[in-house]
Amino acid sequence: MNGRRTIILTVGTCVPLLVIFATASLFHPHYFVKSFLSTKPVQAILEPTHTHDTGLLHPWEPLPTSLITPLEDGDLVPGWAFDSRRDERNFGLRGAQCESAFPDYYKEIGRAVEFQQTRGNVTEEEVDISWRKEGEIIRLMIYDHQLYVVDAKWADHGFDVPRALALLSSINRAIDSYPDPLPNIEFSVGLGDWPGTDSKSRPLWVLTRRFDEEDKWVMPDFGYWSWPLDVIGAYSQVRSDITENEPDWSDKINKAVWRGATGTNDLRKLLVEVSEGKKWSDVKEISWENSTHMAIGMDALSISMSEHCNYKYVIHTEGHTYSGRGKYLLNCASVNIVHKPDWIEPHTHLMKSNGPDQNIVEVSRDFGDLNSKMTQLISDEGEAQRIANNSIHLFRDRYLTPAAQACYWRKLFHGWASVSFEPELYRPVKDEKTGRTRRRTRGIPFETFTSDLMFRPQPARKAGV
Ligand SMILES: *[C@@H]1O[C@H](CO)[C@@H](O)[C@H](O)[C@H]1NC(C)=O
Ligand SMILES: *[C@@H]1O[C@H](CO)[C@@H](O)[C@H](O)[C@H]1NC(C)=O
Ligand SMILES: *[C@@H]1O[C@H](CO)[C@@H](O)[C@H](O)[C@H]1NC(C)=O
Repeated sequence: MNGRRTIILTVGTCVPLLVIFATASLFHPHYFVKSFLSTKPVQAILEPTHTHDTGLLHPWEPLPTSLITPLEDGDLVPGWAFDSRRDERNFGLRGAQCESAFPDYYKEIGRAVEFQQTRGNVTEEEVDISWRKEGEIIRLMIYDHQLYVVDAKWADHGFDVPRALALLSSINRAIDSYPDPLPNIEFSVGLGDWPGTDSKSRPLWVLTRRFDEEDKWVMPDFGYWSWPLDVIGAYSQVRSDITENEPDWSDKINKAVWRGATGTNDLRKLLVEVSEGKKWSDVKEISWENSTHMAIGMDALSISMSEHCNYKYVIHTEGHTYSGRGKYLLNCASVNIVHKPDWIEPHTHLMKSNGPDQNIVEVSRDFGDLNSKMTQLISDEGEAQRIANNSIHLFRDRYLTPAAQACYWRKLFHGWASVSFEPELYRPVKDEKTGRTRRRTRGIPFETFTSDLMFRPQPARKAGV
């Protein structure tokens, strides 16, 4: 009993600290640098070291492609329509349901397919990752509804590991929840903020791309699974935190909110400058003492992600690349103020800055027009409310639901398969001892790979925690 009580007390006192760290970390110029050093895995070679003796070598055939149905298959039950409250966490929507619920979501995939068609199919050499010395990259295969990790290269800082786990888990969830066949594919995934390849053009799956990086395939963010607990937590948890606590429009603070470090991107400094002293502004820089601690007095300024929704206006800013907080802010029933982006995410093209469907307010990258736009919004609240209303219908209740992300992943699998080689599950290897040929599975199943990462010995924790 005593032990149990201690645990409860410890958790109880730690949670407020975690929350503070959580909000602080998101605005940190080097988020993650600290968190995951201890879980950095040591394995480098992922090919299984033993072969499985299959006895007689049966001629092995891949599944006939007739079994690989396009995403449009699967009948829509008459009268079915996506209902966010019922379906937001349905990860196994059939193809036709995904089309009906999120008809405009897959533009970025179609673009990548078209671009790839101009250069011929993706080859096996192009998904090799040995070129990338800096790590932050994994090579994956989906075969007969099973996810494999074929290769992984980690960075020294180690914060690519939780991202890999999040992306692998999201992909696996999109596979496991889905009753229909999926194509067999092999691809590599960049884990960094930067698509960052060498000068050679490569078809790589990335978190974001610049407009001119046409060879890149943009995938859903790792944050749709979860950030590590002490940073921001699971996407669905942030959503329900907002649902439970968001004030009505009339009770929201009549200001534009932003918090963050300005070192990551000069446009953030400009934002702080133009907001200085304005009546509509709750824009504050969070400064850091060093890589682990906020400067004195900063704790009081930091606010959690869901607390941003207490404001009528929320401001996005790109950091190293895309705005990591953007998708969370689009879950608020508030007006999202978004500067012209340099970096594309799957939902970027859905933002509309004018017309009856306007769902965001766009400002220039130097925020030069922020003051006039804010003054206009504050003077015409009806217009602001209309924009906020359009935003939650399109983003919170549709394209940014967890269900939409699973649909997007599967569309990505199909799009990639249409312009790519089909991988082989096995490689024949010659057994030196017996002279026999065996088939060796390529890659490590998702289940095994993640177990191995989870159970790596970790340094002892400090006493009391
Ligand atoms: C950062 O500053 C805090 C407070 O001054 C200190 O306790 C901590 O050890 C410092 N950390 C590093 C990594 O320098
Ligand atoms: C809110 O937005 C939805 C979708 O854009 C629209 O159908 C509805 O009429 C709007 N409601 C108000 C009060 O503006
Ligand atoms: C490209 O790959 C697709 C899917 O595997 C295949 O149907 C098509 O014939 C390939 N095209 C070429 C030119 O090899």
